[in-house]
Amino acid sequence: MPDRSYVIDQMISAKSIAARIEDLAREIKAEFAGTDRLIVVGLLRGSFVFIADLVRELDMNVEVDFVETSSYGNAMESSKEVRILKDLRGEIEGRDVLVVEDIVDTGHTLTHVLHLLESRAPAKLRTIALLDKPIRREVDIKADWIGFEIPDEFVVGYGIDFAQRNRNLPFIGKVRFTE
Ligand code: IMP
Repeated sequence: MPDRSYVIDQMISAKSIAARIEDLAREIKAEFAGTDRLIVVGLLRGSFVFIADLVRELDMNVEVDFVETSSYGNAMESSKEVRILKDLRGEIEGRDVLVVEDIVDTGHTLTHVLHLLESRAPAKLRTIALLDKPIRREVDIKADWIGFEIPDEFVVGYGIDFAQRNRNLPFIGKVRFTE
């Protein structure tokens, strides 16, 4: 449980997220037009809502798989050390893969996962992040598609948590401490 009280101010509405996902899905379908079965890999747990909405906009053959990395725990600070807690169930060699991340913050998580997946020789490896906080970047990485660029705020909702809370909000909100 967070030990300080906070309120959540809406930053991106559910409607704006849905509209943006429609556009992103169009671009992704064009990029993978020749792909037989795309493997969509969600990074747990923050991407679970995003990936659910995104794959339902992709009217093409997709498989869904997940990777879980060590996360912030209950703190708001990022960690340079990324550990794989759960690996893919399936093989990706020679396959087309789309990695789905909730937020690219320092960039360590996405960099680590991409290195791991690249070492397994996929045919094509692309990335999408719902949110990007470029000002926080510590390693030089950018997702191929980004839903929204946001300032240096701590956000929750639409799958994203603060100490495991608020994942079920339908919108993205920013945390504002009240004490
Ligand atoms: P990075 O390794 O610093 O890029 O961190 C990526 C991960 O940190 C994301 O997948 C989120 O799980 C978490 N994260 C980064 N910013 C926030 C935030 O504003 N709210 C909640 N989680 C965040």
